[in-house]
Amino acid sequence: MTARCDGSANRGRYRVDRLDVGDETARLLADLHQGLASSPKSIPPKWFYDEEGSRLFEEITKLPEYYPTEAERAILTENADAMVALAGADTLVELGAGVSDKTTALLDAIGRRNNGKIRFVPFDISQDAIETGASRLLERYLDIEIHGVVGDFDLHLPQLPTAGSRMIAFLGGTIGNYPPEPRLKLLSQIISSMDYDDHLLLGTDLVKGEDRLVVAYDDPAGITALFNKNVITVMARAFDLDVSADDFEHRAIWNRDEAWIEMHLIAKRDVSFDLPGMHVDITRGEYLLTEISAKFTPDSLLADFEAVGLRVVETWTDGDFLVSLSRLNK
Ligand code: SAH
Ligand code: TRP
Repeated sequence: MTARCDGSANRGRYRVDRLDVGDETARLLADLHQGLASSPKSIPPKWFYDEEGSRLFEEITKLPEYYPTEAERAILTENADAMVALAGADTLVELGAGVSDKTTALLDAIGRRNNGKIRFVPFDISQDAIETGASRLLERYLDIEIHGVVGDFDLHLPQLPTAGSRMIAFLGGTIGNYPPEPRLKLLSQIISSMDYDDHLLLGTDLVKGEDRLVVAYDDPAGITALFNKNVITVMARAFDLDVSADDFEHRAIWNRDEAWIEMHLIAKRDVSFDLPGMHVDITRGEYLLTEISAKFTPDSLLADFEAVGLRVVETWTDGDFLVSLSRLNK
């Protein structure tokens, strides 16, 4: 683990730990070997979030078509005091924090309960996102202690700092980016990292009409297309490949049977390249699956929570039933 302290000009304190992720290129290669050998071919979504990917994702959250951010923000703003008070929290741990923009509703509420004192642990695979978020929060709060952790959900949940009375927030519907079996596994790992007095605040997107769903993942300004295609740039850069984002087209499809949105990249030409240890041929018109985003119903959520032994203490939704937040205990 490497730790770096960025002395800030403000009064808040900030450090970021980079958990040992090993050789990043080797991990990307292992993921590509697996994904590009499957049928249909796929690329795991964690590789979206390089500096450009994190920037594009933040742009997505500001698009009028991408309803989840504002719907979740509205619920948080209205209920943050109750959420924090019921959890008795003085520390917020945020999984997949990104730049922690909506999170200020919860941090404000923690400050109100603790004489302005706030402890915040943003955890994300993207160091850029954590650093951008932290520098904004240091501007906003006088007495905040930020302990950023750069790591991977799939490897590092057991290493999260345990200090304080914690609320663990997992927002933005990111849990829905995991297919059913890995999703239950991830929830179980989150539970294992929790004490009995910790609380989990889980944000999930709800099933709704197809038109609204598809446009949220295929916006007319084309930002989501750039975001999706950026994963090709990440791969081409890592292995110096003669393949470009523009060789692919973005497509979002609502899979009604599985209740998830699928993000695909469709090859505009025959694409061939050599990765270390693997030759890859992608035929013109072939679909690569880059991400799913599962949508839930109150019943499907309960089934998942029951399957892993999570107890629902309270749920909130917005006026239009777009997204929901659940407060859970183990
Ligand atoms: N919480 C924010 C961001 C959601 S986007 C919001 O609600 O708007 C998903 C976030 O999860 C990104 O910041 C991405 O970098 C992070 N992420 C994706 N895969 C991850 C992984 N395997 N481990 C840790 N973080 C991951
Ligand atoms: N967690 C976000 C979601 O499922 C991630 C996301 C939003 C995303 N837009 C995307 C992933 C477009 C890939 C492509 O809503």
